[in-house]
Amino acid sequence: MYDFRPETDLPAAERYRQLYQAADALTQDESDAIANMANCTALIWEFLPDLNWAGFYRVVGSGANSQLVLGPFIGRPACIRIEMGKGVCGTSAASAETQLVEDVHKFPGHIPCDAASSSELVVPVIRDGKVIAVIDCDSPLPARFTAEDATGLEALAELLSKRI
Ligand code: SME
Repeated sequence: MYDFRPETDLPAAERYRQLYQAADALTQDESDAIANMANCTALIWEFLPDLNWAGFYRVVGSGANSQLVLGPFIGRPACIRIEMGKGVCGTSAASAETQLVEDVHKFPGHIPCDAASSSELVVPVIRDGKVIAVIDCDSPLPARFTAEDATGLEALAELLSKRI
């Protein structure tokens, strides 16, 4: 049994350090991308408070035909396919840049999957210069995510870039 439950009230940097260590331990000897995304979704859910959705969208197809397709997640059922450049996820995938959105209602083209979501953080997973997936976290709290969250999830994305 894996028991990676974090202590409560950890400073964000320590929380992300432990999340990274747990993700590294769980994925280092496993080559199956779905298993690794599923376990990392569970870790994100356990380590990060105040989320209502966490998971992956994968880039499927190539060039003009590429799209984001829903991957392993925890939360309410979500939209399955997102065009590159659309919504918060598609913007992150198309630009290869993290999107930290304090108020999703003010983000042009935000795609609402759960009406409870108020803020969102999307981080691209980049392998050999190409975005292969994004990690998406939603929160019911306004402005839930900070630059520390972005840095922490970017480190996780870097770790996973060769493991998913
Ligand atoms: N809000 C996202 C869509 C995915 S859900 O949040 C799970 C977006 O605008 O891309």
